[in-house]
Amino acid sequence: MEQHVYPPAAQARIQGMEAYQALCAEAEADHASYWARLAREFLSWQTPFTKSLNDSEAPFFKWFEDGKLNASYNCLDRHVQAGKGERTAIIFETDGGESRKVSYAELLALVCQMANGLKSRGIKKGDRVVIYMPMSVEGVAAMQACARIGATHSVVFGGFSAQSLRDRINDAGAVALITADEQMRGGKALALKGIVDEALDGGVCPTLKDVIVYRRTGGAVGWVEGRDLWLHELLQGASSICEPEWVEAEHPLFLLYTSGSTGKPKGVQHSTGGYLLHAALTTSWTFDLQDSDIFWCTADIGWVTGHSYITYGPLALGGTEIVFEGVPTYPDAARFWQMIAKHKVTIFYTAPTAIRSLIKAAETNDAVHPKHHDLSSLRLLGSVGEPINPAAWEWYFQNVGGGRCPIVDTFWQTETGGHMITPLPGVTPMVPGSCTLPFPGITAAIVDEMGNDVPNGTGGILVVKKPWPAMIRTIWGDPERFKKSYYPEELKGYYLAGDGAIRSADRGYFTITGRIDDVLNVSGHRMGTMEIESALVAHTELVAEAAVVGRPDDLTGEAICAFVVLKRARPTGEEAKAIAKELRDWVAKEIGPIAKPKEIRFGDNLPKTRSGKIMRRLLRSLAKNEPVTQDISTLENPAILEQLAQAN
Ligand code: WT7
Repeated sequence: MEQHVYPPAAQARIQGMEAYQALCAEAEADHASYWARLAREFLSWQTPFTKSLNDSEAPFFKWFEDGKLNASYNCLDRHVQAGKGERTAIIFETDGGESRKVSYAELLALVCQMANGLKSRGIKKGDRVVIYMPMSVEGVAAMQACARIGATHSVVFGGFSAQSLRDRINDAGAVALITADEQMRGGKALALKGIVDEALDGGVCPTLKDVIVYRRTGGAVGWVEGRDLWLHELLQGASSICEPEWVEAEHPLFLLYTSGSTGKPKGVQHSTGGYLLHAALTTSWTFDLQDSDIFWCTADIGWVTGHSYITYGPLALGGTEIVFEGVPTYPDAARFWQMIAKHKVTIFYTAPTAIRSLIKAAETNDAVHPKHHDLSSLRLLGSVGEPINPAAWEWYFQNVGGGRCPIVDTFWQTETGGHMITPLPGVTPMVPGSCTLPFPGITAAIVDEMGNDVPNGTGGILVVKKPWPAMIRTIWGDPERFKKSYYPEELKGYYLAGDGAIRSADRGYFTITGRIDDVLNVSGHRMGTMEIESALVAHTELVAEAAVVGRPDDLTGEAICAFVVLKRARPTGEEAKAIAKELRDWVAKEIGPIAKPKEIRFGDNLPKTRSGKIMRRLLRSLAKNEPVTQDISTLENPAILEQLAQAN
């Protein structure tokens, strides 16, 4: 296949391959000192640390452990104190298209008021607070307010169901929940508070005392006296000065639930010092964020991308960023292009799935093509969440970036806290579809099942050999699962990312080949097949058994395909359609609309080995509508394959 190579930018903070190699060499020579130098340069410490890495309890690593700092101080106060209080921190744009600017001084005042409000409810350092908020200044401020008082936030994406919200509140043992009356998306008001009420109905979250409600739309809400309180009432009379709580570097800044290959979603625990360092550092080196930039990360604060590249990274550097409430397709699919032109965005960071859907929209309706908008302010583009296919990369490069903006294809994960493998704009010649080279100090490598390095050009398992400051500290409440998931014994103490990868023979560039576990990536959203299976079999009236696999999808990357055995006879025709719809709606209610299977096929049984194990690799072929070519000699019921090969 012909491969295009695109040159890096002429000018960026880290300039030239030699500068990159010098940083890598510095880290290689003394890993702990390298990170300590950066932690001193990028963060302000109330108590300077004297220790860098503590690996005495590996894989429970500690960084900068005797230092104390506060994340919100680093994101707000220090800029105001440096005379940058009038600088715009956030340009907020509503779903409906109104925008307003919030300065650093204003954001600091709001965060302090919120922090004081939380304190007045008895919320203190170490408490967990769940945030279930729309994209808003108040959502970002709620996270910062928790950080300010040392409370550990756990943001739950507004698209998750009542059941998912309840599970997360209980797993975290949260004492308070911050939410909104409604959220506006695509011109529609969605009842967030209604979902909260459903989640809490019947006193099923015993640790939760307060529900704090931000009034976004003024829509009608249910109210539980003694439990619910309005945010604006809590803020009334609250002082806009709040001394930050200085916390140890290892103090948990947040939990963020994400899907694994088995069991329930896991609460990924992040530290304050190491995490904030990497959020700030990567925003500086990967995005080259300067004071003159308008930065826009389109992610939701409910995902890690929104944490690192909305709430923490850009603010830690004193940058100016867009926070957008709405969706890319409202009022039409030119919304992103229109907003880039309106706000003169210079750095734009989005997901391949959004790009692919906007390509499709522009192909079917020329009026929403980016060429109708002035995108000349852009100087750097980014991609995140899933592999970007070369065709989408080229389109993004030419039609959005005007052929002049480098694209940073950033590979990372909820667990890694920030970018792990990515081009740097002034350094790395880009090859579409490849996330290129490790961030300086990140010891990414590709190994076989025993942890031995494989040569370039040979695919294998992606690992990170040495710990890094922003890494996951543990799974909340389940250290054993942490060890088992990320540090399996056979891998020589390397961090297991869960992805497959290959390095090119010529440049040693990394390309991610996809998850090697039962985790799916649908539109950049991470989902466990087991979670969806559990949701399906929870429909005890209808479902006897279910198996879920992913299949490639042009638009969403992967699509969810479920094979279901009902408690009644296998349905066909209209009945099958009706039951499939009922089950899809059921999954949306159990987990959230993002987990709805794209296709459900019914069988009298599932393909199993004689020992009763479901043969998922066969299901993967069936889902792709490919002939089954695998060895089926161990399959107990070969006849089932023909049945499951039929779509309903
Ligand atoms: C999984 C992590 C990273 C923040 C958003 C997703 C996939 C992520 C890339 C990329 C290829 C990517 C991996 C990874 N992934 N970025 N640039 N190229 N794959 O975070 O929900 O924790 O998902 O997303 O499979 O393991 P997440």
